[in-house]
Amino acid sequence: MTRTRIFSGVKPTGHLTLGNYLGAVRRWAEEDQHRADGVFCVVDLHALTVAHDPARVRRLSRQAATILLAAGLDPDRCALFVQSHVDEHTRLAYLLECTATDGEMRRMIQYKEKAARERARGGSVRLSLLTYPALMAADILAYGTDEVPVGDDQAQHVELTRDLARRFNERYGHVFTVPRATHPPVAARVMDLQDPTAKMGKSQARSAGIVHLLDEPDAVRRKIMRAVTDGGSEVRYDREAHPGVANLLDILSAATGGRERPEELAGQFGSYGALKKDTAEAVVELLCPLRQRHAELSADPAYVDGVLRAGAERARAMARPWVDAAHRAIGLLPPV
Ligand code: TYM
Repeated sequence: MTRTRIFSGVKPTGHLTLGNYLGAVRRWAEEDQHRADGVFCVVDLHALTVAHDPARVRRLSRQAATILLAAGLDPDRCALFVQSHVDEHTRLAYLLECTATDGEMRRMIQYKEKAARERARGGSVRLSLLTYPALMAADILAYGTDEVPVGDDQAQHVELTRDLARRFNERYGHVFTVPRATHPPVAARVMDLQDPTAKMGKSQARSAGIVHLLDEPDAVRRKIMRAVTDGGSEVRYDREAHPGVANLLDILSAATGGRERPEELAGQFGSYGALKKDTAEAVVELLCPLRQRHAELSADPAYVDGVLRAGAERARAMARPWVDAAHRAIGLLPPV
């Protein structure tokens, strides 16, 4: 019996948020690495698809890797590495660009939203923003991945990855495993505290509605206490009518380990203020150990480097046979 293979990644375009943690990272550390063969990646190449500052991407890549370790990823149990250290990702991405169509890429919601935002600012759109999902599919397919633990916002990209895997297999013979996305039962889409109709995103310019994983406890409290709720006062779980309150209930449920569903928690609060207070304390408690561990690990960059070096080596060895097989199947002459 081979073990289930799990792949997932974070993009170093900003400081990691509570959304990243509840939607993805926490499950990698608490569940995925224990029950399966986990491959986790700081996907730095993806951070180059929008205007970027080289020094910042470098800094954020290291910070993201350190946070993943602080969150509990164990280098003895899983492979943790930086995408650009493993050439197999880009080697495979090109073959998947030759499998995908431009129409498929243009239909991606994230492409449409980010391209529109960039154009509205008077900027131009990098070609790599359009081809991004082919690289993401390569990240996943290079490891024979079975499961991809992600937040809701990545569902469409994983669906496209499945289509590309199937199409490639049909055309060129069976090479790829067809992976599936997994999402957490609650908090698969944590919303911005100031605009609960928008996702809490790490690349957002305004940070008042975003809880960053390394925020000081008082900053976390302040942001949650100032969360936008709606006109009413009764605490009910209704994502359509009361998105701000529903978001807080989701966060509280997830932060307290999901023992009580957000719908059940709603009945326990007589006011929005009380809900905010409990949510703030639950998040502070959840993030405290992570912040402490991050501070310790930051003091030892050589340790983090060693983990990333060993992780890349393991990842290369895992990916090489899949990517070589894809090169052969598609008609490329093996090196002589
Ligand atoms: P990224 O860096 O935007 O987010 C990393 C992970 O966090 C999840 N997430 C959220 N979950 C719940 N609520 C939120 N507000 C929230 N914001 C982010 C994301 O769904 C993701 O799981 N394209 C990916 C990175 C990537 C990747 C991959 C992921 C590249 N290649 C291969 C999986 C497999 C991205 O931009 O994630």
